[in-house]
Amino acid sequence: MEFSVVEPTVTENITENITETRTGTRTAPGGDPGIPPAARPGRPDPKPDPERAAAIRRRDRAHVFHAWAAQKHIDPLPVAGGAGSYFWDYEGNSYLDFSSQFVNLNIGHAHPRVVAAVRDQAERLCTIAPHFTTEPRAEAARLIAGLAPGDLNRVFFTNGGTEANEHAVRMARTATGRPKILSAYRSYHGATATALNLTGDPRRWSADSGSAGVTHFFGPYPYRSAFHADSPEQECERALAHLDLTIRMEGPATIAAVLLETVIGTGGVLVPPDGYLAGVRRICDEYGILMITDEVMVGFGRTGEWFAVGHWDVVPDLLTFAKGVNSGYVPLGGVVVSDRVAAVFDHRPYPGGLTYSGHPLGCAAAVATIGAMRDEGMVEHAAWLGEQVLGPGLRDIAARHPAVGEVRGLGVFWALELVKDRGTREMLVPYAASPAESTPVTEVMAACRKAGLWPFANYNRIHVVPPCNLSAAEAAEGLAILDGALTAADAYTTEGAS
Ligand SMILES: Cc1ncc(COP(=O)(O)O)c(C=O)c1O
Repeated sequence: MEFSVVEPTVTENITENITETRTGTRTAPGGDPGIPPAARPGRPDPKPDPERAAAIRRRDRAHVFHAWAAQKHIDPLPVAGGAGSYFWDYEGNSYLDFSSQFVNLNIGHAHPRVVAAVRDQAERLCTIAPHFTTEPRAEAARLIAGLAPGDLNRVFFTNGGTEANEHAVRMARTATGRPKILSAYRSYHGATATALNLTGDPRRWSADSGSAGVTHFFGPYPYRSAFHADSPEQECERALAHLDLTIRMEGPATIAAVLLETVIGTGGVLVPPDGYLAGVRRICDEYGILMITDEVMVGFGRTGEWFAVGHWDVVPDLLTFAKGVNSGYVPLGGVVVSDRVAAVFDHRPYPGGLTYSGHPLGCAAAVATIGAMRDEGMVEHAAWLGEQVLGPGLRDIAARHPAVGEVRGLGVFWALELVKDRGTREMLVPYAASPAESTPVTEVMAACRKAGLWPFANYNRIHVVPPCNLSAAEAAEGLAILDGALTAADAYTTEGAS
């Protein structure tokens, strides 16, 4: 039987005015570049509907199985809606979203341009098998490749970040014929078997098969140096020497790739010292090992660059993304593949695929998101917020609170590391803490939520990771709430107790 594939008609090319570029704006402008008011509607005043909330809660508790949770120990908040930097519940409460949900909502809730693009695409073609091609997939790939550095020119689309890492690793193993992957402690790379084995934080422990061909190494973390370094430069040098030694001990010919988050995210917003990523690139080249950077959390403006590798001019062989690519409006992720790795599969089939690879709705959302971010200057704005508003504001807060040991970050990607004692740096909540041990941070989070702010917490850290288009006024509002809430943490410090 014959059938023909009808080329989609271009009714609206929302990227018409977008020109390809490989370099983002490096320096933040002197003033707020200005985000259009449509993208920041202000704190909403939601109408309470507690009966509806109760019905949702009942059904959820009876039938939904939640991720990463003991099912009887949770009480998920029913969320009614979101707009710009805020979302709200059914009880009349609104929250300024300083966590961008799961650090994916780079353009805020309900951006009209992306909502319209998804609606238009749904009317035209909701879904199609991955062996066809479509305008949104081809255009999203062109745009992403245009933003990625060097010869990262091809995009393999997945449904999210875990699968992106899964496939990047498969590409590296197939291309090199080597079995092993090196990844860093304190990293998170996803929740499937391979991605969890690659993960270097406690989420791995209960599901670790222990035999998946993964070896972990320590990356730089000047505040808690594994190398007894006393400066970022020394930390960088020693972390690179440690990686080199690890590779030599493991056997370079057994290692397919070094996989690392460009800036470690959930594990603490660990910004690598200058020279570290370039050093990893050099070591990989020396041993014929591929370099994979996981930009699932940091890609698409989060650090004030389109991709965080842009801060250090490093070009990996494979780069994974998800989250910010379309702010999670429709699940989408992928691997950007260098020409060198792509060429391996020119005449040899790539052993992998997904029914929803290049999903039209996800890709249409990506095209619209990238267009909106560009036209509204969101990446430059994120850089400006980090340098002029969030960084100085958080350092100010730190000066008032003995519980804050360190403030670090860039763009709209910040962490406050909470300690019992600034001198000893003892963590306010231990690594891999139980819920009972987490009380000081739980109290800070509760105080934030009560005042209408929703930050992100992990062990002894509060992360400030708002949308890239947060306004300066919203930033000030959130910082003031956080400032007040941190008083709860101070009570647990040696200074606060004395
Ligand atoms: C750095 C990093 N890699 C991978 C993942 C997994 O992505 P996903 O949850 O979309 O599968 C995450 C999720 O938080 C992440 O932060």
